[in-house]
Amino acid sequence: MMPDFPHRHLIGIEGLSPGEINFLLDEAEQWIAFNRSVRKLDDRLAGLTQVNAFFENSTRTLLSFEVAGKRLGAQVVNMHVAQSSVQKGETLLDTALTINAMRPDVFVMRHAAAGAAREVASVMDCPVINGGDGWGEHPTQALLDALTIRRRKGRIEGLKIAICGDIRHSRVARSNLLALRALGGDVRVVGPAALLPSTAELGGAPSFTDFDEGIAGADVVMMLRIQRERMEESLAERLDDYHALYGLTRARLAQAAPDAIVMHPGPINRGVEIASDVADDPERSAILEQVELGVAVRMACLDVLTRERRS
Ligand code: NCD
Repeated sequence: MMPDFPHRHLIGIEGLSPGEINFLLDEAEQWIAFNRSVRKLDDRLAGLTQVNAFFENSTRTLLSFEVAGKRLGAQVVNMHVAQSSVQKGETLLDTALTINAMRPDVFVMRHAAAGAAREVASVMDCPVINGGDGWGEHPTQALLDALTIRRRKGRIEGLKIAICGDIRHSRVARSNLLALRALGGDVRVVGPAALLPSTAELGGAPSFTDFDEGIAGADVVMMLRIQRERMEESLAERLDDYHALYGLTRARLAQAAPDAIVMHPGPINRGVEIASDVADDPERSAILEQVELGVAVRMACLDVLTRERRS
């Protein structure tokens, strides 16, 4: 019999079937109530070592992978990149081989270069989970976003979902396009032309440069941060009037469906891509629910990927 999730690593949403994506979302559901209880300790990963190596900054992803591993009983170790030999010129693969020699049971990483997680996975003896690779993918973010939509709206199929902002530099947009379209969402992207990828890269998803037109009637408005760190200076300078044109305000949100939800992977830049009153509206904004469900999704991924070695 084929296992429910026949992959050794989680590098991206690319290559996953709708059934496999749904399987991970279903697995995550069991951890939501568990995470709301006072004592949050399961022992299924007891005795296993989880190493997190984040070569790029992170608040939500690193912390939630650490919380997730600990709640499953794993011994979680965070590599301190700033104090590591990476600063002495050690290559990524040499660092990976060094960590591998310490026999971790699961390895979670984030890196500024697209493709870094796949490269590392090719030399590791344990499952590798990609916590974001440059402009590449951010699969657990797309899974937690899909789970948030599924729970708030009861389904993903047929929903009009607008992903807005800096699409070109966003691994979140890339993974979400793949996941939400695989699950039957009607996904479109909205942003200034300079921040939109080519039609080929969008895999046929429609794109809009007019914000109001792009979010008209949308059930889900997903906002993204302007990734200045991935831009050339000249492009960043041209984005001065960004809020006026592409910032989500309450007035703008009125174009979307009356019960539309607002999402954002964080970190949010208040007054740039999103107005504070929209971000803080508990009825419309699902931003903190995304964070909450992120822990459940990461628990599911850690559990599913380590099943084989635990059996
Ligand atoms: C994002 C990331 O780092 O890819 N944040 C996250 O993981 N929640 C998005 C961003 O940095 O804007």
